[in-house]
Amino acid sequence: MDARNDPTLRVTLLPRDTNKYGTIFGGIIMSHIDLAGAIEARKSCGPHNFVTVAMDKVVFHKPVFVGDVVSFYTKTLKIGRTSVTTKVVVEAMRADDQRRVRVTEAEVVFVAVGKNWKPVPVKARR
Ligand SMILES: CC(C)(COP(=O)(O)OP(=O)(O)OC[C@H]1O[C@@H](n2cnc3c(N)ncnc32)[C@H](O)[C@@H]1OP(=O)(O)O)[C@@H](O)C(=O)NCCC(=O)NCCS
Repeated sequence: MDARNDPTLRVTLLPRDTNKYGTIFGGIIMSHIDLAGAIEARKSCGPHNFVTVAMDKVVFHKPVFVGDVVSFYTKTLKIGRTSVTTKVVVEAMRADDQRRVRVTEAEVVFVAVGKNWKPVPVKARR
């Protein structure tokens, strides 16, 4: 979860991902949070078809700039009957001085669905 561990996802972002202020559009960061959380859910409970049911407590602490290397650290907070709650912390390494800054965090809840899109039970893998 912290910067000493491997991130679940690491990306750098392009000018096409910016808003009118020239910083990265929050929706782009949220889509990567969604992906990182889904990877975490599979790591914790195996290869189910996980769909996102809720994104909670999304906080954008600092802006992300083009060229930053953006790392998504994850952990599993709770495994329910059919759902997995994950925490995603996003850290940017600034392109100019390599400084690491916590930019965003969120909790994302996934539900495992089977055929007919019905929730199916999950269990911890580790
Ligand atoms: C995910 C989905 C199948 C769940 O259906 P549902 O009828 O709410 O299912 P249930 O009531 O049986 O709840 C299933 C689990 O989801 C959890 N859940 C449901 N709504 C939730 C919410 N708003 N926040 C957190 N967890 C929620 C329940 O607590 C339950 O967890 P548990 O089994 O671990 O106790 C349905 O909401 C859905 O299809 N949502 C759209 C998913 C999607 O398309 N995501 C992509 C975003 S566009």
